[in-house]
Amino acid sequence: MKRVYNFSAGPAVLPEEVLKAAQEEMLCYGEAGCSVMEMSHRSAAFAAIINEAEADLRALLNVPDNYKLLFIQGGASLQFAMAPLNLMKKHRRAGFILSGYWAKKACEEAKKYGKAEILASSEDQGFTFIPDLSGLVIDPATDYVHICENNTIYGTRFTQLPETGDVPLVADMSSCILSDECDVSRYGMIFAGAQKNIGPAGVAVVIIRADLIDDNVLPGTPTMLKYKTYADSGSLYNTPPTYAIYICGKVFKWLLKEGGLKRRGEINREKAKLLYDCLDESKLFKGLARREDRSLMNVTFTTGDAGLDEVFVSEAKKRGLVNLKGHRSIGGMRASIYNAMPKAGVESLVSFMREFERDHHV
Ligand SMILES: Cc1ncc(COP(=O)(O)O)c(C=O)c1O
Repeated sequence: MKRVYNFSAGPAVLPEEVLKAAQEEMLCYGEAGCSVMEMSHRSAAFAAIINEAEADLRALLNVPDNYKLLFIQGGASLQFAMAPLNLMKKHRRAGFILSGYWAKKACEEAKKYGKAEILASSEDQGFTFIPDLSGLVIDPATDYVHICENNTIYGTRFTQLPETGDVPLVADMSSCILSDECDVSRYGMIFAGAQKNIGPAGVAVVIIRADLIDDNVLPGTPTMLKYKTYADSGSLYNTPPTYAIYICGKVFKWLLKEGGLKRRGEINREKAKLLYDCLDESKLFKGLARREDRSLMNVTFTTGDAGLDEVFVSEAKKRGLVNLKGHRSIGGMRASIYNAMPKAGVESLVSFMREFERDHHV
């Protein structure tokens, strides 16, 4: 069967080259005589895999030495709890910029542990834009400020980071990590579930300033939910998701080989422009996100007619353009065009959109 162009928001498309290499090594990895899935996480072979994955991710993002890089299970959602448990230690207070569903989920979770203050929100207008941050006032007695840098569901992204002074900025980068260059030193912590731009589901990456990690966490915090546990053990306190980490490592190598994040950012801007230009020229389709805040990774649009949107999604599927249905909370369509989506996939979608418009525009 022919591979489709998979526009899923996550788990999402992986580079074909990575899948093929994993297939080659499925039965026997190197000299190990077994699959990565079958080897001890304490073996020398796996130590090399996880160490290389970390080194390559550090190289890609130019991670400063005073940051720890951790591989943690539980997806991005677990970080909604781990962040307050570990970071709400001085003031029991965090600030949230509500730019969408996932930021709201993080805020709700943090409320269990302390004061979660909403600093700005675009909820009353359907999260179609990033709230205005120009007049943002942050009380210095705040342990951290949380943002969701790319809003997967609505197709918006922060093009500027909020000024948080000495208050650490915590960013959920699940749907934009590795999509462009990034100055890690601007953040106290970055986290991302792997299943969009990094690798398979089952692991999240956490990049955290070392001084934010200590034993002074909220009382009752389980060992497995302390950043220190992962930092002290090289993410090997218990059995990590070994196969997922192995695939992530292959994706990092692929990104390095393809020119790193500067080049990746250029490619992603080109891909996104193809789709946004098509939307802007169209008389049938309309983008759902405010223009200035448009995401490079998730492009949301609609015909304005739920029935016709459904026809579009099902006709597209027949052409091998799959998973274009928008999130149930906003409807319409969403094309997730993560790093591994080839430009040819986007071109194919644009050409289908033009054809659909010719056939359906009255
Ligand atoms: C921005 C963002 N944050 C968090 C999540 C939740 O991730 P997980 O399923 O890994 O907990 C998602 C999932 O789509 C997401 O898009």
